[in-house]
Amino acid sequence: MVGFPDPVDGSVNGPVRNRRVQRRAPHSTRRRGFKKPVCSQITDIVAIDGPVGAGKSSVGRRVAELLGFAYLDTGAMYRAATWWAIENGADLDDPEALTAITRMMPLHMTDRQGVLRVLIGAQDITEAIRTPEITRQIYKLDHVAGVRDHLVTLQREFGAQQPTVADGRDMGTVVFPKARWKVYLDASLDERARRRAAQLAEKGVQVDLAALTKEIEDRDRKSMTRAVSPLRKAPDARVLDTSPLTFDQAVDAIVDFVREAS
Ligand code: DC
Repeated sequence: MVGFPDPVDGSVNGPVRNRRVQRRAPHSTRRRGFKKPVCSQITDIVAIDGPVGAGKSSVGRRVAELLGFAYLDTGAMYRAATWWAIENGADLDDPEALTAITRMMPLHMTDRQGVLRVLIGAQDITEAIRTPEITRQIYKLDHVAGVRDHLVTLQREFGAQQPTVADGRDMGTVVFPKARWKVYLDASLDERARRRAAQLAEKGVQVDLAALTKEIEDRDRKSMTRAVSPLRKAPDARVLDTSPLTFDQAVDAIVDFVREAS
């Protein structure tokens, strides 16, 4: 399938408080006269970065809800790109092929009432992008500059439309360097593994805690050591260690930070 994707539904998370930023141009005009959004002008962003399992997406989504901001899960975009590349039989070791196929991805994401849906064309891949296979293969794509460049453009386009809480690995460092609020969400490795195991247990999946810990450590190392857009704390980010915090305390800490610094 070819065509400029309609990346993310603009109507996420209900009311948007700040309408200063122009709404997206109609789909048909976006492609012809499309200009990459200027990242230095995108400021109404809560940029949340951090390692695997620090709670970025659950906390970020709730923060967005409380602030009336849109929510953008950029990890889901890398997952969708991986699914799409595999689906199309792309050579996962060929950066040029991966870049070309990613540019053709008809990705559409909606986030309503706290429920993220990821679509490729008409196909709902929300569940399919969470499989261990996708998590394993994502590293074939996430260090490819052309893939990142395309997804970053979509992310900025989204962030330029409305105040947004965006979570990922390079939100504060690369995608939204001028974000007014930057948070580096962290927690100890043991705590992150314990939380992930508890989440899986709730779904009836029993895991070996030592193996899970090792897997999380390995994923973090890959994200932190890659040459392109590695995970690191932006110099102006506030670090929030959620190890001793409940979910609500972590949410409140970010909401307070945004309100104080507004
Ligand atoms: O947040 P997540 O686990 O769903 O992200 C999946 C992978 O995507 C993660 O292992 C690293 C990559 N990723 C990235 O490189 N940059 C982002 N902004 C978000 C995710």
